[in-house]
Formats: sequence, C-alpha cells, structure tokens
Amino acid sequence: DASDIEKGIYPHYMLKEIDEQPFVIRKIVSKYQDGNGDLIIDPNIRNSMKEADRIYLIACGTSYHAGLVGKQLIEKIAEIPVETHIASEFLYNRPILSKNPLFIFISQSGETADSRGVLVAIKQLGYPTLTITNVPGSTLSREANFTLLTHAGPEIAVASTKAYTAQIAVLAILAFDSAHAKGIKQEINPFHELSIAANAMDIMINKKEMMEENVWKYLNASRTCFFIGRSMDYYACLEGALKLKEISYIQAEGFAGGELKHGTIALIEEGTPVIALLTQSHIRGNIRSNVQEVLARGAHVCMISMEGMEEKHDQIVLPAIHEHLTPLVSVIPLQLIAYYAAVYRGCDVDKPRNLAKSVTVE
Ligand code: G6P
Repeated sequence: DASDIEKGIYPHYMLKEIDEQPFVIRKIVSKYQDGNGDLIIDPNIRNSMKEADRIYLIACGTSYHAGLVGKQLIEKIAEIPVETHIASEFLYNRPILSKNPLFIFISQSGETADSRGVLVAIKQLGYPTLTITNVPGSTLSREANFTLLTHAGPEIAVASTKAYTAQIAVLAILAFDSAHAKGIKQEINPFHELSIAANAMDIMINKKEMMEENVWKYLNASRTCFFIGRSMDYYACLEGALKLKEISYIQAEGFAGGELKHGTIALIEEGTPVIALLTQSHIRGNIRSNVQEVLARGAHVCMISMEGMEEKHDQIVLPAIHEHLTPLVSVIPLQLIAYYAAVYRGCDVDKPRNLAKSVTVE
C-alpha cells in the first residue's frame, strides 16, 4: 500500500523505483542461487520446462514487453520455441496450440483480468501453468500450478520500471536453468552476467543529468517521438515508447529499424525526435544505416549505443554487458527520459491520467 512506503528523499515513487533496479537484480541473484552458486528452481518448474514442446508467454502492458525479451532469452539459451501473446488478444483469437505447451503468465500485480482470463481458459484445457509475479499470494499466483517471484518489492508508481527489469532477470534465470537441465553447454555464468548488468545499471542511474539534458535537447517542445532498434533493441524501444506515452503524454512509438522504410519514415520531418538504440553487434551496421536514413530527412537523433559499438558522436554510451541481457541496462536511459519529460511538462508522474496500476476488469 502506497501509504506504508516512504518516498524518502525522492520527489516521486517512479524515480525511487528506477533507482532500486540494481538492488533488485542483486536480490534476485541471491534468491535464485544456493551456497554452491547453483540455480535454485522448483524441480516441478524445471520438469515442466523440460517437457514443454512450446512455451506461451502471456501478459499485458510492460509485462508483455518483458515477455518479448523472454522469448528471445528462452529460445536462444534453452532452445525451446516460444510465442509471446497479449492476453486480451489471445483470449479471443487463440492460436493452434502445440501438443505439450507450458503457459507462463507474466504479471507484476498478479491481478490483471485479461491475463487471468487466459489462465482460466487454459486450466480448463488441463495444460500446465506458471506465473511470474511480484506479488506472492496474488490471484494469478494462486491459480497457476507454479509461481516464480520477481522480488522487486512493492511498485507504487503506475508506470512500471523495476518490475520490468526484475521480470527479465527471472526469465533469464529460468532460461539458463532449463538449458542446464537439458544439458545444453553454457559458456557463461548467469549470476555473474546479471551482477555485471546490475553494476552497469548503477552507472546509468548515476548519469541522470545526461538524460535530463537530452530531454531538453530532443523532447521539450515536441509532441511526438520515435524509438528505433532491431532485435532485442526493438523490444526495449517498445518499452521506452510506452513509458514516454504513459507519463508524459507525448505520442511515442517504437519501431523495428528495418520496417521504417515500409511506412513510418513518411512521418519523419525536420526536427522529429528519434531515439535510436544499439546494443546488438549483429545488427550494428543495419541500425546505423537506419539512423542515416532518418538524419537525411531532418530527424533530431539521440543515439544510445553500447560500449564497443559506439561512435564518436553518440549521445549516450552504455557500459558493455552480455548481449542477451542488454534491455536491463538500455531501458534505464529510456525510463529516465520519460521521467524527466513528464516532470518538465508538469504531469502527475506517479499517477498518470486514465491509467490504473492494476486493471482488474476486462
Ligand atoms: C496496467 C498498468 C501497466 C502494466 C499492466 C500489466 O495497465 O498500468 O503498467 O504493465 O497493467 O500489469 P501486470 O500487473 O499484469 O504486470
């Protein structure tokens, strides 16, 4: 309950929750690791993952964006096919299911009616269900066969921040655990990589002024903003755009860089703000040329790149971390840009108009 949680030195819960993210990742690392450094996952969850021929990730809003990242993680690390679906769409437009599906519900609150609607329908079919949630004992947790907790602590601001990065960290741990259980050889230690990510998150959080500056430079007088990226960066862009929409009311859209030329580039004109993300080396050249395409049409570009892929004039450089985990770090400047944009516009940061923290009606 908001009244029990102090904002302390923070003007808004959202800023406090952004700051808490490295701590939350470290907490997840300690919760999912035993004294020998091995993964702790309920053996029943491990078996369900092993037996599944396809995983269906079901979620809404920010949790859906974590699910898009989760698909990449589980497919790349554990080699299990994954589909990520928006709960309200899945409910009325159900795809053909595989023989042995596992359903994973991602929900900060564990109370979202759209997601619960899918859970109820899937339980009737008798398929195994797992909920990844921040709230122990929540409806989705009680009604699913299994639960994994995200340990982010209460999230008060309506716009989700620490719950998103916590969901990604838990999805990564689940993916690594399944890979291990399936005997897939791993070159990296997930806990070590998550700890490196937490340190990189700290570094970006300590550069708040830089994000504040970028808001002035790019967004202050704007009514629109585009976010472009490819692969994992595209998913982080969707989340960055959602944050900006939710709290600053600037019309924002995340686009796959390669798709720009098929329509959206028509909207680029002199001064249009474009935030571009680059953390994946295999699409480095492609996104750079997308940036050239929008620059040539007058866009005002804020380039966010990862160390090792940066160029001299890039506005924001992220510390290098493992390429599977980059949304944990790349989302921080995006959250902060949205935050400062909302503050400068005098918006109610923690309680944006028309939105609720958890939506318990369909
Ligand atoms: C609401 C909130 C969003 C959240 C979504 C899903 O719309 O305003 O911030 O992402 O619900 O919530 P959940 O609790 O299921 O993650």
